[in-house]
Amino acid sequence: MNQKWQAEEYTKGFSFVYQYGENILSLIDLPKGSFCLDLGCGNGALTRRLQEQGYRVLGLDASGEMVSKAAADYPDLTFRQADARTFLLEEAADCIFSNAVFHWIDEADQPALAQNLYRNLRPGGQLVCEFGGKGNTGAILAELGRQLAGQGMEYRHGFYFPSLGHHAALLEEAGFSVRQAWLFRRPTPLAGGEEGLRNWVRMFAGEQLGRLEPARQEQALAGMEAVLRPYLWDPEKSCWVADYVRLRLQAVRED
Ligand SMILES: C[S@@+](CC[C@H](N)C(=O)[O-])C[C@H]1O[C@@H](n2cnc3c(N)ncnc32)[C@H](O)[C@@H]1O
Repeated sequence: MNQKWQAEEYTKGFSFVYQYGENILSLIDLPKGSFCLDLGCGNGALTRRLQEQGYRVLGLDASGEMVSKAAADYPDLTFRQADARTFLLEEAADCIFSNAVFHWIDEADQPALAQNLYRNLRPGGQLVCEFGGKGNTGAILAELGRQLAGQGMEYRHGFYFPSLGHHAALLEEAGFSVRQAWLFRRPTPLAGGEEGLRNWVRMFAGEQLGRLEPARQEQALAGMEAVLRPYLWDPEKSCWVADYVRLRLQAVRED
């Protein structure tokens, strides 16, 4: 997908993404000193957490802005700009860790991605990842689609949100053995009070929204808030709660 990342805004307003990512670290089953790649490392916050667990780390991300932010915030760690579908490590990894990245990669490219993960792991190496699963943010994106359609614009759903069975089969096809996998709902409170939903849409579906004139964007966002308020607004906590569904996997390179 053609997403432009705003590293500062992401770090300030969407820290829940990497904070939830900390829950996945415990799936890595390796001794200290093992080499762990943080693929799609974003601002580097989880690369740091991996290092704190005693791993040797490298962060890769396709976004130059994210890599610059990570390198500025964690100057003692190494980050490089690279694409998950094509990168090639000099040293095969003991673990490839990835949080909230794979759903940004087109479905047509997923087999190539899986093959590239396999090629960059040592035999017996682990893939530990989490990303959007089937139905992720379904209510939000469906309503965005309706608002765009109301303004004569077609919504293009570019996200890859697979079922557990579909993605496990794809990994097996590439040579992985899937050891553990979960598909689960994770209602996610958004920061920013009343502004939370529109900030989320601007950050994660900004390309779709940006196809409308600014005045019409405002109309679409207000329309979304009106329709979704009964389902996604938490009056007690005064925040929007996004209807996240996550797919979490641990798989091993067999051979
Ligand atoms: C939601 S952020 C997650 C960042 C980080 N993993 C975290 O948990 O905060 C998604 C990241 O995936 C990266 N990304 C998207 N497509 C990519 C690709 N094809 N190759 C490498 N990185 C990619 C983006 O640049 C962005 O930094």
